[in-house]
Amino acid sequence: MQDIQILVVDYGSQYTLVIGRTLRELGVRSVILPPKKADKWLKKNNPKAVILSGSNWSVHSEGAPGFPSTLDITGKKYPMLGICYGMQLLAHKLGGKVDRPHGHREYGPAIVSPDTSHALFAGVKDKTDVWASHGDTVIKLPKGFSSIATSDGIAGMSSGDSRILGVQFHPEVVNTKEGKKILQNFLDITGCKKDWNPIDLVREIQGEVLKTVKKSGKKVVLGVSGGVDSTTLAAILAPVLKDKLVCLAIDTGGLRAGELIELKANTKSALNTYSNTYSKNLIIVSAEKEFIKNVSKTTDGEKKRAQFRDTYKKIFEKEIKKHKAGFIAQGTLATDIIESGKAGESAMIKTHHNVGLKWKVEDLHPLRNLFKYEVREIAKALKLPPAVYERQPFPGPGLYLRVVGTPVSKENLDLVREADKTVRDILKKYNLDKEISQTIVALLGIKSVGVKGDERVYGHSLAIRAVQTSDFMTASGYHFSKEITEEITNALTKHKDIVRVFFDMTPKPPATTEFE
Ligand code: XMP
Repeated sequence: MQDIQILVVDYGSQYTLVIGRTLRELGVRSVILPPKKADKWLKKNNPKAVILSGSNWSVHSEGAPGFPSTLDITGKKYPMLGICYGMQLLAHKLGGKVDRPHGHREYGPAIVSPDTSHALFAGVKDKTDVWASHGDTVIKLPKGFSSIATSDGIAGMSSGDSRILGVQFHPEVVNTKEGKKILQNFLDITGCKKDWNPIDLVREIQGEVLKTVKKSGKKVVLGVSGGVDSTTLAAILAPVLKDKLVCLAIDTGGLRAGELIELKANTKSALNTYSNTYSKNLIIVSAEKEFIKNVSKTTDGEKKRAQFRDTYKKIFEKEIKKHKAGFIAQGTLATDIIESGKAGESAMIKTHHNVGLKWKVEDLHPLRNLFKYEVREIAKALKLPPAVYERQPFPGPGLYLRVVGTPVSKENLDLVREADKTVRDILKKYNLDKEISQTIVALLGIKSVGVKGDERVYGHSLAIRAVQTSDFMTASGYHFSKEITEEITNALTKHKDIVRVFFDMTPKPPATTEFE
């Protein structure tokens, strides 16, 4: 396979992995490494271009990360693009000046006027919508540099030979309307050629896992949920691990209606790529009581996740021991790692249930650099059925995250499970399930007064949320039509205990996809 063409130096911005994803969307692979590791990598590799990511750091703060020491900042070896902190670092180190003129962090949409005669902005509108997230800004350019974009101040810079470039905003974020065009222009400047395709990636992942696993000859226990990530990972690993692969599913009691049947069908389709004896490789452990007992101890989202994680881990370890396995594999994606604060130094938002667990055996996260849409592409390339690659995501802790502000109980889980099925059936009827990226139905821990059959009742409330997104890093709230809103409300309030239904259209940020 061709050498990696682009090095992305990760300074800890929560968007860094999105740079990698966007480059892959443009057909080019990259490697994302923090400065120290980038330094080691640069000693053995010759990238065609380098991108410096954003960060929460200020270049003036003590301990602020600098360049990898082997990085060539003359632009002679490779062109470079600094994004946000990356641009500030370039300006600061090359003799310019960086300041915080507004005294606060600027966050959100902004409008930039680029110099469209510069190759970085070729074909971009004279005024273009961008996403900004920075406190510092470049107020004086290094010698030989010119400003190639302005907003409030300097929003882009270029060295005289256009080899060292910087943008103050985030071209990798979808809210930067022409961000992809700008990154494509950068790729054109660098001469990088398309080198990404799903089957190459499958081979790469298979090779990486085989290399780790082969020597020990031990089994790999793979956590499967029937979702796109773990099912695709099963399909990737099955042909190379064969009977060394043990797929383990847990019925946590937090699954949606019909989910176990889907899980069996999806895992079967993945394992059948090499054998039709799938049932031997799929183990389902029923642990509803154990999970409810442990998770119901708290109503705090993060504590619930911690209880869920502990129970999940205990069951896995028991099975690992039973099968004398040497490894655990999980379908963790880049997004899960970012949100759990494990990528670079990005701030923790939520601890995803399967990230950061300490296992007695080696844990493998072969999909850790990928985003959901890429896994869907791989699933398609592996000829998995649409039921797999079109499936909406569903969190590991499942309905436990959808009983909010009140303790989880069997009754609450059943109520929210039934409501979830009702809403999903209605959306399917209107063919909306493909338009919506994820639907969330949550039971809210507030009781309120209602009237049913002329009688006053003190009942539960449900919240309905649907989002549209390509990567779950940002999302917009879906607005249902009046007809659908009414149909959902009528259907849900038929339940004797439901008196109110709320529709939540808040985008992410500031909200997150799940309620907790
Ligand atoms: P948020 O709420 O962070 O969700 O915007 C982004 C995506 O991640 C899913 N999610 C989880 N998945 N374990 C998981 O496996 C978790 O603890 C978890 N929390 C959120 C969420 O459903 C959405 O798809």
